[in-house]
Amino acid sequence: MAETIVLEVARYRPEIEAEPAFENFEVPCRPDWVVLDALNYIKDAIDGTLSFRWSCRMGVCGSCGMMVNGEPKLTCATFLTDYLPGPIRIEPLSNFPIVRDLIIEMSDFMTKLQGVKPWIIRNEDLPVSQGEYRQSPEQLETYKQFSMCINCLLCYAACPVYGLDQHFVGPAALALAQRYNLDSRDEGEAQRLEILSEHEGIWGCTFVGECSVVCPKHVDPAGAIQQYKLKAVTEWFKSILLPRGGRD
Ligand code: SF4
Ligand code: FES
Repeated sequence: MAETIVLEVARYRPEIEAEPAFENFEVPCRPDWVVLDALNYIKDAIDGTLSFRWSCRMGVCGSCGMMVNGEPKLTCATFLTDYLPGPIRIEPLSNFPIVRDLIIEMSDFMTKLQGVKPWIIRNEDLPVSQGEYRQSPEQLETYKQFSMCINCLLCYAACPVYGLDQHFVGPAALALAQRYNLDSRDEGEAQRLEILSEHEGIWGCTFVGECSVVCPKHVDPAGAIQQYKLKAVTEWFKSILLPRGGRD
């Protein structure tokens, strides 16, 4: 096996580069090393100024997403040996502004996420004396898949619609909205549907499906968006066919 591999790493230091450029680093290619290990090796042993985000190193925090040879990946779950003989090109996630080196600006996503109200909405809270809101395993199963999202943003980097139209709410925010809509304790679906039925909400999605392909947690945001579209059309039909007050 090769003892080293070359990483072509995108650099962008606003005080030095006018626009992103690549810098090559030769790193050890150990069988148990992932791309994140190689980036940490560069930071520790070659160039301490290289900037990137990570935290858990176990596919949970969602902060280490980058483009690896053009594909959105969690770098803590992407082995160097899968790219032999190299080189491996590492870039910040596509479709986001770059803050520095491999770090993207996430504010747009945070605003959109908040906009879909990803929390349980109740018309009226039950008195505490009635105990907890109980839920059966079957009820949990209806939304569990969508609750696995770790906000890694790989789906936004893969989404050509978001790449062209930054007003599109995007895959993860829509999947998380659906996660709460399907929760038996929630009563906020109508509020979310009103927000998401706008063009930039669910209708912007042309069902390319790349979001679901790249998702490391198998959340299937494309599936969530299609469910949402079906629901929106059903509600629209109900609104024109049923007399006011006859809807559920
Ligand atoms: S839906 Fe999947 S790819 Fe998108 S942010 Fe959530 S975990 Fe990451
Ligand atoms: S470092 Fe947390 S998901 Fe990769």
